[in-house]
Amino acid sequence: MTKLTTAAGAPVPDNQNTQSAGARGPLLLQDVWHLEKLAHFDREVIPERRMHAKGSGAFGTFTVTGDITRYSKATLFAEVGKTTPLFMRFSTVAGERGAADAERDIRGFAIKLYTEQGNWDIVGNNTPVFFMRDPLKFPDLNHAVKRDPKTNLRSAENNWDFWTLLPEALHQVTIVMSERGIPASYRHMHGFGSHTYSFINAANERFWVKFHFVCQQGIKNLSDAEAAELVGRDRETHQRDLFDSIENGAFPRWRFQVQIMPERDAATYHINPFDLTKVWPHRDYPLIDVGVLELNRNAENYFADVEQAAFAPANVVPGVSFSPDKMLQSRLFSYGDAQRYRLGVNHHQIPVNAPRCPVHSYHRDGAMRIDGNHGATIGYEPNSRGQWQQQPDFSEPPLAIDGAAAHWNHRVDEDYYSQPGALFRLMTPAQQQILMDNTARSLGGASRAVQERHIANCARADAAYGAGVAAALARGVAAATPNTVV
Ligand code: HEM
Repeated sequence: MTKLTTAAGAPVPDNQNTQSAGARGPLLLQDVWHLEKLAHFDREVIPERRMHAKGSGAFGTFTVTGDITRYSKATLFAEVGKTTPLFMRFSTVAGERGAADAERDIRGFAIKLYTEQGNWDIVGNNTPVFFMRDPLKFPDLNHAVKRDPKTNLRSAENNWDFWTLLPEALHQVTIVMSERGIPASYRHMHGFGSHTYSFINAANERFWVKFHFVCQQGIKNLSDAEAAELVGRDRETHQRDLFDSIENGAFPRWRFQVQIMPERDAATYHINPFDLTKVWPHRDYPLIDVGVLELNRNAENYFADVEQAAFAPANVVPGVSFSPDKMLQSRLFSYGDAQRYRLGVNHHQIPVNAPRCPVHSYHRDGAMRIDGNHGATIGYEPNSRGQWQQQPDFSEPPLAIDGAAAHWNHRVDEDYYSQPGALFRLMTPAQQQILMDNTARSLGGASRAVQERHIANCARADAAYGAGVAAALARGVAAATPNTVV
């Protein structure tokens, strides 16, 4: 039989009865086990992620199936057949840590690849675009989709008021309201890096790249009615599905594919390639096979690995880098900052976050430093001991930038309607009807002025889209369940 101890390792003689002065008497301060147990319990909750608070995760592998070394020198792509260990976390966005899984919402799709040259985090979603292209609006988005400050309820009015005032949001809104807006589980959806990133090859040439993760389980979605019924029975359907399938050996897989744009094309391509509200049509930049992601091991402890996982778009490796996308640039700051608050300055030492390669960073001290703190090693550079020198061989090629510093208004001369219009026209009539009915159910909780603003935005994308939403609202499809819709 294993024995119960205090956190200091001393035997606990009694875990059933507190120590008191007499059988009916008050408690004694010297009952240190009682004090320790409550004090630890009082601190068990850590802040939840500001967004993407509800999630599920698992470990797995990435295996190269296609040679892309002409685009990227990243060591994980070095040869076909090479495998790299990984951890992934999926999430919903707007709900809190205890939210139901089967909600209409974007899904997070975050991958941490433990490469020999550091961790590469791809912190994406199940959609190829996003609501906005200027990060100054990101906190507003979250305030609009989360709870109203007075009622503490999710508010269709706040939500749709904000979305409809951002014309660039229509592409993402169309996807979220479409039949793909409630994936049946995390296993039944695609993943996207969404932003444009860059690849750099051994000759130090830069390519712009988009990441796609193509679901091998087949796409499956829920209707609003199916989701409402399911949530009534089980709030944890995504967690249960992912955990059980891995436990039963049905390992979920995604094909990793990339779209590659030569660096010089960016200046002349008809779409701004750094605009997160737009996709690159596949006919312009076809998908190229890279490899397969497989999830094959559940975490032994949810809190240790899934809750404490910290993904950051800033974590890239040689051969992979950023782009001028303003949203991506902002995310390079926000994640590490959030994690220093949520988990502490040494969050990168938590096992799920720790690189599987040597770390020589000169960072020292800080709360919860648990790795020996680099012992007696000196803590400065340059130094005369040849220690931990910078690695200029990994410098990126210079990137030409032009233009004056200003608050540039990206809405001037921009087209925010042709891609959502094209998406609408790609749908079958039945899919269009589902989109328009889902929209009406969600939008039904907003005021008439906001509804009309959305109808007008949809009509700019396609007259039939605007008319269809208006008709669905008029038919009274709007008998909404506002708290289950983003
Ligand atoms: C989580 C900020 C846009 C995907 C988070 C977190 C922050 C954040 C602070 C919580 C991090 C943590 O506590 O560990 C931002 C900002 C954005 C932005 C400032 C825009 C300027 C995006 C976009 C995507 C995305 C465009 C997808 C393409 C995710 C995912 C998570 C997350 C998947 C959860 C990661 C996990 O599973 O731990 N975001 N975000 N975010 N974000 Fe963003």
